[in-house]
Amino acid sequence: MNSPLLAAAPWWRPATGRTLLIQGGVPLVGEYPISGAKNAVLPLMVSALLTPHLVTLRNVPGNLDVAVLAALLQRLGCDMHWSATPAGLSVTLCADRLQPRDIAQDLVTRMRASVLLLGALLGRCGEASLPMPGGDAIGLRGIDYHVAGLRALGATVEIDNGMIHAAAPSGLQGADIVLPRPSVGATENLMLAATLAGGRTTIRNAACEPEISDMASCLNAMGAAISGAGTHLLVIDGGRPLGGAVHTVLPDRIEFGTLACAAAITDGELLLPHARVELLGAAASLLATAGVALQETDAGVVARRGADGLQGIDITTGPYPGFATDLQAPAMALLTRAAGASAITETIFEQRFRHIDELRRMGANISVVGRTAVIRGVERLSGATATCMDVRAAAALVIAGLSAAGTTTLDGLDHLDRGYDRMTEKLAACGARITRIEEG
Ligand code: UD1
Repeated sequence: MNSPLLAAAPWWRPATGRTLLIQGGVPLVGEYPISGAKNAVLPLMVSALLTPHLVTLRNVPGNLDVAVLAALLQRLGCDMHWSATPAGLSVTLCADRLQPRDIAQDLVTRMRASVLLLGALLGRCGEASLPMPGGDAIGLRGIDYHVAGLRALGATVEIDNGMIHAAAPSGLQGADIVLPRPSVGATENLMLAATLAGGRTTIRNAACEPEISDMASCLNAMGAAISGAGTHLLVIDGGRPLGGAVHTVLPDRIEFGTLACAAAITDGELLLPHARVELLGAAASLLATAGVALQETDAGVVARRGADGLQGIDITTGPYPGFATDLQAPAMALLTRAAGASAITETIFEQRFRHIDELRRMGANISVVGRTAVIRGVERLSGATATCMDVRAAAALVIAGLSAAGTTTLDGLDHLDRGYDRMTEKLAACGARITRIEEG
């Protein structure tokens, strides 16, 4: 599996150890630079397929999902030139010889974002066939909104034997689309297709996550006409000729929130360069109430535990600017050590509590009723052996391990690598006693 990734993303270093050991109880102190957002860079890379001209992305996070998507794009005939600068990883994509063929099943089933290839290839090539996408096992994660929207734009879409076949031989036509709920992926997929469709598309009840705005601003720099990004009503005047663009990926708000929790739970102090508090939405004030103090400085955000210590809070996840579901697991790890009780209700994904059993192994007191987890803070967590079940669960277990007494042993590290750029090294540079080894 590693060779197509290395061919497409030469910076990707296959993990040197399959087990993570954390000796907890050490305050994190130092500088942890926040990377470009995983959930922004994936749709941005796919956006480059819409034009035969060069698209350069800066501040690209070096994670496994980016490497997998790079391998997928390379098989489609998209050339990529990578450069590593002190300011981070950059990639220039050239899709002047795009072929909607040979989409590798093993790669598609590794990541949910591969479904965005449908909108891009339909718009650019008039056809696309790909296996049903994969990604985290955190819920049904249907693609019915994607399919209905693409059909509204004039495509035929058939799902047969685990494959999606889409075609629009005479091109796509703008349409008025209402999403049943503000799905991030469906909004992105339809933005891609609508940018190359003739005429005007409106997407009502669109997602308004910052990553959508980042994608719209890159597409607009390429020559698209997308207005309303950051609201629930997107208007796309499609069919304009597209050129190239140079775009800097926005910082990762989920990595930021995760590291802020890590600083607070270990009673340390982290400087988080590139972090932007306003991108956290409702999470900023909720984390502050829980005792995560965030101070903006010229060098970045300083995160530490507030003077009153960690306090239990109630959280309900929701579409942006609501509390991000991607921060739910890290916040739960934090709240295992807070004074009093907390309740976390997950409204976006129905199976996103798979970290709870693992946190319980470490001594957390958590009960679940339906979609709500009740967390009663404990004096201490104890190191244990646990398995990372999805990207954000992995981050939560790292946070808990950093706070626990004794040694925590984690496997399932592909999940950590999918979402985070060199997390082990960056944490070690802040004093964490963390190392990867081959065997548990
Ligand atoms: C994206 C993010 C993910 C984040 C999520 C919600 C990326 C690569 N991933 O995932 O990290 O947790 O947004 O912020 O950006 N749904 C349907 N039918 C559809 C589409 C969605 O039922 O056709 C449902 C999903 O099952 C889920 C909800 O809608 O329950 C929201 O999903 P969506 O916003 O689409 O999430 P993703 O784009 O998959």
